[in-house]
Amino acid sequence: MNTLEPLRRFVRDVTDCVSESGDERVLIAGVRPLLERLIHRDAWLPESCARPHPLHYRQYLLHCDPLERFSVVSFVWGPGQRTPIHDHTVWGLVGMLRGAELCQPYAPDAQGWMKALGSPHTLHPGEIEAVSPTLGDVHTVANAVPGKVSISIHVYGANIGAVRRHVYLEAKALDCSGPGGGTAGTGGTGGPDNAGLSTGGRGEPRLRPFISGYSSTTVPNLWDRSGDQRTQAPEVRGA
Ligand SMILES: [Fe+2]
Repeated sequence: MNTLEPLRRFVRDVTDCVSESGDERVLIAGVRPLLERLIHRDAWLPESCARPHPLHYRQYLLHCDPLERFSVVSFVWGPGQRTPIHDHTVWGLVGMLRGAELCQPYAPDAQGWMKALGSPHTLHPGEIEAVSPTLGDVHTVANAVPGKVSISIHVYGANIGAVRRHVYLEAKALDCSGPGGGTAGTGGTGGPDNAGLSTGGRGEPRLRPFISGYSSTTVPNLWDRSGDQRTQAPEVRGA
């Protein structure tokens, strides 16, 4: 079997889902078991889409629907790497492939400042988390495994690298010497970081627009099925 067959099958099945419904609840319910099956094994993920960066987490585009109804991305977290507080503005499912992630949801307080909502939780291999503007859309994510790389597979209801989103400043960050820093941010070509956040007026959310982009300029070739075809017809050779 071609190594990429699990990803190809996932792309085919999610394409069916988005062709049958545009309803967020229906899509999340329909895509979740498909993502569960995809992350059950990880031998399919190309090494080129599993490489960490020494400073910043990576987001490699694995596939984007031609009509931009969904995209599939591998997020690769180096040791100690994390995101700033950010939103997605579309539905998304995050499936843990290797290692673990620490996820902390956020919600605005009465003054519009983002505050941690409950305790952070850990996502382990095989587990899936949903995000969306209706389910809860603002969070931070961090590599939960000291000294090791973690990888999660994300599917979003849009071409996520081109979606206009936001990065938020937490109220307590005002007391620090400055926002950002550490190993947070810059997950894509112009990924989220805390620099340039607007402090706004009284009562306004403190946020900055951002468009994440991707860390890669190519996608895996899902469609070279010649090996399978030649196995079935060994008398046929390539040019
Ligand atoms: Fe996120």
